[in-house]
Amino acid sequence: MKQDTILVIDLGGTENSVIARMIRSMNVYSEIVAHDITMEGLSAFPGLKGIVYAGGQNRMVDGKEVMADDAVLHSDYPSMAIGCPDMAGINVDLIDEGVMRHFVFDKCCCEATWNMSAFARDQIEEIKRQVGNEKVLLALSGGVDSSVVAALLIKAIGSNLTCIHVNHGLLRQGEPEEVLRVFGEELGANLIYVDAVDRFLGKLEGVSDPEEKRKIIGNEFIRVFEEESSKLKGIRFLAQGTIYPDIVESGTKTAKAIKAHHNVGGLPEDMQFELVEPVKYLYKDEVRECGTVLGLPDSMVYRQPFPGPGLGVRCLGAITRDRLEAVRASDAILREEFQLAGLEGRVWQYFTAVPDFKSVGVRNHARSFEYPVILRAVNTVDAMTAEIETPDWEILKKITSRIINEVPGVNRVVYDLTPKPTGTIEWE
Ligand code: XMP
Repeated sequence: MKQDTILVIDLGGTENSVIARMIRSMNVYSEIVAHDITMEGLSAFPGLKGIVYAGGQNRMVDGKEVMADDAVLHSDYPSMAIGCPDMAGINVDLIDEGVMRHFVFDKCCCEATWNMSAFARDQIEEIKRQVGNEKVLLALSGGVDSSVVAALLIKAIGSNLTCIHVNHGLLRQGEPEEVLRVFGEELGANLIYVDAVDRFLGKLEGVSDPEEKRKIIGNEFIRVFEEESSKLKGIRFLAQGTIYPDIVESGTKTAKAIKAHHNVGGLPEDMQFELVEPVKYLYKDEVRECGTVLGLPDSMVYRQPFPGPGLGVRCLGAITRDRLEAVRASDAILREEFQLAGLEGRVWQYFTAVPDFKSVGVRNHARSFEYPVILRAVNTVDAMTAEIETPDWEILKKITSRIINEVPGVNRVVYDLTPKPTGTIEWE
């Protein structure tokens, strides 16, 4: 792959991602690398055209000032520095798009050829090269990242990829079916579907502490995955949906080592697989675009964030099947109505939760004693803080009417008005 590339060398910059994304938005590939990258390290980028030194507030690491490798500093690549007042060459304080464009195209003579089709094509070649005729395993949840990884691998190595889809009973309505349809039928993947619903719900029975629930779901997932993978023979690689923010947010210097342990609901470190991580240099919106280029349906590519423990943290307290079904059915109604109202894709996250208490109501002239459903819809940039969405009352009234009429065991619907803080986005 000889893609024109601009490297962003991390000298403690806090805006590294802004810079890399700005360059990528100009259809030129950009990647963030650690401050101490050597000339040998640079040779891994045959299309390297220029270097941006990104300094900033935190140039001190372990009490020492961070500086780029001497040979790199004195290399012939065109360079610019941002937030490094002591460095020579083009030096700017602010990340100005015009200045960047001048640097990328006039100084470095890059061609604007990087786009998602090119990326997908190159990654497919890269996977073929890395994997050869060996076999690869992937935990396919049906989320955006694992789905895009699966689609790339299917194109690259076909039936040498085995996908395992674990249905833990905590997925949204229609999700396991969609995975089976898209990957099993349409893309012809080698797909192992594990119905682990009874097993998960059995383990979770009577457990009301949210952290305990999360732990059980995570651990059980690993066990099921290990059991299934141990039945397979001759697998050398494990594919993972690691994406760029996972790497960048852990710090460039230590990123690669940290990430491998954190992904896919924490698959154990001692699994003897080599990793295949074809989207690890993509930001989330780029992963979605890649999915579209590969022909995945919008329902899969543009889905809202969904927590690893799934509906388990929305069926509040100890999970029971009746309340879990109430969460699933009410969530499906909420999603359907938000889509009809044109809110899909415009509201960051929306879902329902069902608490473990009942309230008194009246139905068909008789007393009822049933569960409430909580509606929650929020907007956020980074999920650290969030504001509530304020949908039209008529939309909320329609959703309410459908839920109390269509979802068994529910007689009341409430809307959560709490921003984060003080409420988290999820209830558990
Ligand atoms: P909170 O509830 O902490 O959620 O405000 C912030 C975002 O993270 C999602 N979330 C999770 N995602 N595993 C995940 O993969 C989890 O255990 C988990 N808990 C919360 C949540 O849906 C929201 O988008």
